[in-house]
Amino acid sequence: MTPTKFRFSQSTVDYYFDGSFRDLAKIADKKNAVIITDDNVFAAHQDKFRGWNVICLKPGEEYKVQATVDSVIETLIAMQADRKTTLIGVGGGVITDLTGYIASVYMRGVPFGFVPTSLLAMVDASIGGKNGIDVGEYKNMVGNIRQPSFLLYDFSLLKTLPAGCWSDGFAEIIKHACIKDAGAFAILQKENISSLQKNTKLLSSIIIRNAKLKTTVVQKDEFEKADRKLLNFGHTLGHALETQYELTHGQAISIGMNYACKLSEELAGFRSTNEVKELLEQYGLPVEASFNMNKVLGIMKMDKKRVRKEMSYILLRKIGNAVIYTIDISKLEKMLLRTYQAS
Ligand SMILES: NC(=O)c1ccc[n+]([C@@H]2O[C@H](COP(=O)([O-])OP(=O)(O)OC[C@H]3O[C@@H](n4cnc5c(N)ncnc54)[C@H](O)[C@@H]3O)[C@@H](O)[C@H]2O)c1
Repeated sequence: MTPTKFRFSQSTVDYYFDGSFRDLAKIADKKNAVIITDDNVFAAHQDKFRGWNVICLKPGEEYKVQATVDSVIETLIAMQADRKTTLIGVGGGVITDLTGYIASVYMRGVPFGFVPTSLLAMVDASIGGKNGIDVGEYKNMVGNIRQPSFLLYDFSLLKTLPAGCWSDGFAEIIKHACIKDAGAFAILQKENISSLQKNTKLLSSIIIRNAKLKTTVVQKDEFEKADRKLLNFGHTLGHALETQYELTHGQAISIGMNYACKLSEELAGFRSTNEVKELLEQYGLPVEASFNMNKVLGIMKMDKKRVRKEMSYILLRKIGNAVIYTIDISKLEKMLLRTYQAS
């Protein structure tokens, strides 16, 4: 098992693309590590956790909150975890976001690593060092940017990923294709979830391609001053929707991407909204929903991408070519309302 090493501003992260869960003991010392996972992942892979210290959390976005952080910290204190203890997040994006955040604040920072178990965490959430929690209806409102020490990929973990979670991962994969990778967009057009579930070789190559794409974007702009913002394509509206309605992260950003495509037609000469919509639908994602746009706009105004009266909105010029567009909030609101009423 050889890691691919990626250098970030303060540290190097080892990515084990050819790993298996069994190899975790070669990367971290069982006695000096605590795994943080959730009930679903634990139940599906119970044998693998034998011999490890494990903190098992309730699954779901509603637990990505400060109360969970407090309870994990109390457990870590009871376990006598110290500054040499490595925290390992084994799970989907909720677990990796939480683990990275807890590791950043516990004793002012302890080492951490991830074994992503959902497609979304493999291609997106575990990469790039953004750790954090939600506050009420505001997504990822509190957090930091700190890189894990390692990412261990075991593609076989996806065998137990619930059917409904696959689309969520593809939402981020399609996002990457839209902003940076027209070649991947064409590959995805020829496939679908079930063809890729059967073709594990192609699926793992797509996961690695996406993990590397995100890593390259983050390496160039770790603290989101410029290009990293492109990764927020579909997220500004998506996050506001996600906290208001019963939508998963992937479903919410899929609707967000459709709206961003429509704005791109008006503001950036984009001509391929239908292709993006069709691809999202091909991967089981919604592109429209009935919602209270005024309420959603209210939440959106508190987004981290807002600076005073302006907001960075990610638009597409072409598939594979995205641009950061700074737009006056009142103009953005009018355009989104008009787009919503016309849909
Ligand atoms: N930090 C980042 O850069 C970043 C990027 C994108 C998304 N995110 C965050 O990621 C989260 C969404 O991640 P997610 O979609 O993985 O959600 P999740 O962590 O809630 O996982 C989805 C569900 O699948 C279950 N699960 C995961 N892997 C499994 C497996 N192998 N077998 C059985 N069950 C499994 C989980 O228990 C959960 O019920 C959101 O909170 C989002 O904000 C963070």
